[in-house]
Amino acid sequence: MKALVLSGGKGTRLRPLTHTMPKQLVPVANEPILGYVFRHIQEAGIKDVGVVVSPETQNDVRSYLGKGSRWRVRIDYIPQEQPLGLAHAVKIARPFLGDSPFVMYLGDNLLAQGIKEFVEDFHSAGLDALIFLKEVDNPRAFGVAVLNKKGEVTKLVEKPKNPPSNLALVGVYFFSAGIHAAIDRIRPSGRGELEITDAIQELMHSGGSVKGQILADWWLDTGKKDDFLAANTVVLDEYIKRDIQGKVDSKSEVSGRIRMEKTAKIVNSRLRGPVVIGKRCEIVNSFIGPHTTIGHGTRIINSAIEHSVILDKCHIENIARLEDSLVGREAKVVHPQNHSRALRLLIGDNNVVEV
Ligand code: TTP
Repeated sequence: MKALVLSGGKGTRLRPLTHTMPKQLVPVANEPILGYVFRHIQEAGIKDVGVVVSPETQNDVRSYLGKGSRWRVRIDYIPQEQPLGLAHAVKIARPFLGDSPFVMYLGDNLLAQGIKEFVEDFHSAGLDALIFLKEVDNPRAFGVAVLNKKGEVTKLVEKPKNPPSNLALVGVYFFSAGIHAAIDRIRPSGRGELEITDAIQELMHSGGSVKGQILADWWLDTGKKDDFLAANTVVLDEYIKRDIQGKVDSKSEVSGRIRMEKTAKIVNSRLRGPVVIGKRCEIVNSFIGPHTTIGHGTRIINSAIEHSVILDKCHIENIARLEDSLVGREAKVVHPQNHSRALRLLIGDNNVVEV
């Protein structure tokens, strides 16, 4: 079994952040999303991983993943000049994949469960494809599947106007080599992409066995700011244990599950977990509320922040309330005295916001 991780694409929905950073590397609880993906691949015992990269993402993705030794895997990088669809990514990965079965994992998806238990299921059931599904409230925004009583997929539709079910396709797929012939038979969709849903339909029409597995636990697609903040909230709720390593002065109050690095400093401030504070952070005269991640080397002065992700080396000063925000690296959000209205921001790396 091989793995194919999709880390190309344009990430338009997370602009301006994705002008300077691939969305697959935006950190959740100070760890890039790709780090979670690779952990699942390692747990599943897979050793050969192809990573699809775009001209925009390739340098940063290569410098984070390297040769893959951190996860004890070998990585082949597969450049994709344009994001011509998930099935197109599989097509250009054919020389790497050969006739091996593989798991395709979208590099901006986070799953609570790993994929280890499904590798066995896929092999023993002799399937051509195993797809993962999750009940959602807004199926119109997703690829949607219909299952029969045996768990076989009978229908797949991309972003349906009248959804035939509320089961959305999750960004993880297992395929046998049979998917390649199906991809060769499909044409680009109305949006000009080779759609993986069309390829799976084609596989079904030619008699392939395609099963759907409904995930019991959460799944998050981090393509937009609010989805990304939801991912941060879930990861902080589920994984963060109280571990306070830095310096907290006697005027500060730190309550709940807070993970704080050794070199961080808290002065006259209140922290209410779940919260993650990175290395060399300085929090002075401030409040950091639940579901907030503060990146490494960030300074927060005279401000209150809640339900937000602030990346590395930012400077936030005199902001009375910053919430539901995603702030890029080395950004500055400042006010000369004290800004009293609540701010909700999505700002890119190196931006300066003087309110
Ligand atoms: P999407 O989120 O569907 O596409 P995108 O990254 O272009 O984002 P946006 O819609 O905001 O512009 O892609 C899902 C994942 O698959 C993501 O990690 C990027 C990757 N991908 C590729 O590697 N190649 C492709 O051709 C496409 C369409 C996506």
